[in-house]
Amino acid sequence: MLQSIYWKNGKIIIIDQTKLPKILQYKVLNNIYEVAEAIVNMRVRGAPLIGITAALGLAQIAYKSSENKESFFVELEKGAEVLKKTRPTAVNLFNAINRILNVAYSSNNPIKSVIEEALNMLKEDIKINQKMAEIGAELIEYGDTILTHCNTGSLATVSVGTALGVIIEAHKQGKKIRVYATETRPKMQGSRLTMFELISAGVDAYLIPDTAVAFTFERKGINKVFVGADRILADGTLYNKIGTLQIAILSKYYSSEFYTVAPSSTFDLVSKKEEVIIEERSRDELIFVDGLQTAPINSKVFNPAFDETPPNLINGIITEKGIIYPPFKKNVINILQQ
Ligand code: MRU
Repeated sequence: MLQSIYWKNGKIIIIDQTKLPKILQYKVLNNIYEVAEAIVNMRVRGAPLIGITAALGLAQIAYKSSENKESFFVELEKGAEVLKKTRPTAVNLFNAINRILNVAYSSNNPIKSVIEEALNMLKEDIKINQKMAEIGAELIEYGDTILTHCNTGSLATVSVGTALGVIIEAHKQGKKIRVYATETRPKMQGSRLTMFELISAGVDAYLIPDTAVAFTFERKGINKVFVGADRILADGTLYNKIGTLQIAILSKYYSSEFYTVAPSSTFDLVSKKEEVIIEERSRDELIFVDGLQTAPINSKVFNPAFDETPPNLINGIITEKGIIYPPFKKNVINILQQ
């Protein structure tokens, strides 16, 4: 199973996802600015992986720190501020930073505790994903035709993945499934990363253009959708890769089941919808494809990276604590508090 990030003696080693699928190239991140650059430019991406990368970035500050607690806390706070400005939507980033800061402030040996906590988070991520994969795979039946969006596999986490982890687990269990994966314009996480992972796992998978989603429901009998999440609110409102909303609407129209798969670190139980910032990315992502200009250079552009799916379009939320079914207002809290 692919692992997308490692810690070796104070060095953070990532798979540079911008190079996939052509080259599987690793990159060493040497300081908090390189960590932030890797997140902003999507060398690492996917909500859980963004969180773990940030935690390791703070651990690296601790690793390099002198024994002077005062200067350590100054560096740690500065690092946290740099990281918070990278990407606004995936709540795992903010949850991971807060978790590390809480540990630092409540420990007698903050330098050691910060490193230990970040390394625990790295290991924990794999276990949580494996648990979600097993829980979610129970929803998949022999012969299901599944649609997935963006990349939610090992490359979006430390390893195993969220929604793609569920799909690959069902395949490993011998359920004969067929999977359709969207390209996921403009950053092509579906074609570059999800197809790479599905083919490596030996799943019967087909790549479709984003524009073919409705017709694929119409002609190919999709009966289940599994996607990831970048943030889920207490009432079940889902923030995920742009395009998720239209898939959820189509799923309802075609009487398919729509599931999102997310660890508890993807929940935001305090924010209201109007407080969630949807990241808007550069106009160049739409005007150029691989350096080639494909739209008038002076085009006005709206390039949101995520959208908001209402709870009434979601059949269930798969977490490491169990599956949350509607009514989400009551059940999100009940399951997460277990
Ligand atoms: O912009 P990205 O590639 O970071 O977006 C990733 C997604 O939207 C995933 O679906 C989401 O993070 C869940 S991944 C486990």
